Amino acid sequence: MGVRPGACVVMLGGCGFVGRALARELHARGYRLRLLTRRPDRNRDLLVLPRLELWEGDVHDEGFLREAARGAQALVNLVGILKERAPGDFARVHEELPARMARSGRGLRLLQVSAAGADAASDSAYLRSKARGEARLRELAPDAIIVRPSVIYGPGDHFVDRFRRLLPWAPWGLPVPLAESPIAPVYVDDVASGIATALARTGAAGQGYGFCGPEILSLGDTVAAIATLCGRARPRGLSAPTSLLLARLLEYWPGTPFSVDQWRTLRAGSVCPEGAPGLPDLGVRPRPFREALEALVRGHA
Ligand SMILES: NC(=O)c1ccc[n+]([C@@H]2O[C@H](COP(=O)([O-])OP(=O)(O)OC[C@H]3O[C@@H](n4cnc5c(N)ncnc54)[C@H](OP(=O)(O)O)[C@@H]3O)[C@@H](O)[C@H]2O)c1
Repeated sequence: MGVRPGACVVMLGGCGFVGRALARELHARGYRLRLLTRRPDRNRDLLVLPRLELWEGDVHDEGFLREAARGAQALVNLVGILKERAPGDFARVHEELPARMARSGRGLRLLQVSAAGADAASDSAYLRSKARGEARLRELAPDAIIVRPSVIYGPGDHFVDRFRRLLPWAPWGLPVPLAESPIAPVYVDDVASGIATALARTGAAGQGYGFCGPEILSLGDTVAAIATLCGRARPRGLSAPTSLLLARLLEYWPGTPFSVDQWRTLRAGSVCPEGAPGLPDLGVRPRPFREALEALVRGHA
């Protein structure tokens, strides 16, 4: 059964970039929301939404998850990391957490946000762990819904905003690793709309959806579009071997801005398989990148 407006939806990772857009969307559709976070003090601005509660706690603690699931009709897991701070982080966050959600939310509607390109055979530990998490969830909860987005952009994102900030540092043209990699950037509000509809739709049980924008672009063209709108020089694409060398060097840089595993993830590309169910099957027409980007960058200007 799909969840109806008025029902309580619990969101793990709900205070992040996608979670915030989804919280606004679900709230507008009439749901009650319970957002689990380690840092409620940093997210109090969300409390302007009257039917939203912030619960402080550790989502990896099953007792806390069971308590949070009490009285709710759905659990949505948006917790994800791009790199490991310590060995085992991918397994804990991407593999074990979906299983914890399944055990804590038995009988509830469950939705897992994975990633386009998730593949148990990938040489990227990130993509392998996302695929293993999907499999763990499916074993325990065959009716769970899984969505696999490509690169998500929108206000406050980790993509357009990052390149926009980096561009002024390279007036001769920002070097872009693996510039040929294909991506299908998808706008955050389209992702939120798709998730909200999937939660409500009875027929979505057990489905997997690829959430991609309408065009496949190369990473280099995407960054070039951002540079043009910001009035910056055209970026310079780096070949695969040069980007790998850069990743090897940056692994030792404080904060690891780009790692070898991220290089492998990028090399795999981030697109949806042709013919797979996606946003249009949920009634969402994803907006074209360049149109939405213009509004986004002008908003920053
Ligand atoms: N953004 C993209 O382009 C993109 C593309 C494909 C897939 N995805 C997937 O979509 C989901 C949401 O992405 P996002 O961009 O919204 O991520 P985000 O902004 O980084 O937010 C993720 C949230 O997860 C929680 N979190 C992070 N590490 C955690 C840990 N070790 N333990 C417990 N909680 C942790 C944080 O919540 P608190 O700090 O509030 O506790 C954080 O707000 C992720 O699963 C991501 O892999 C994103």
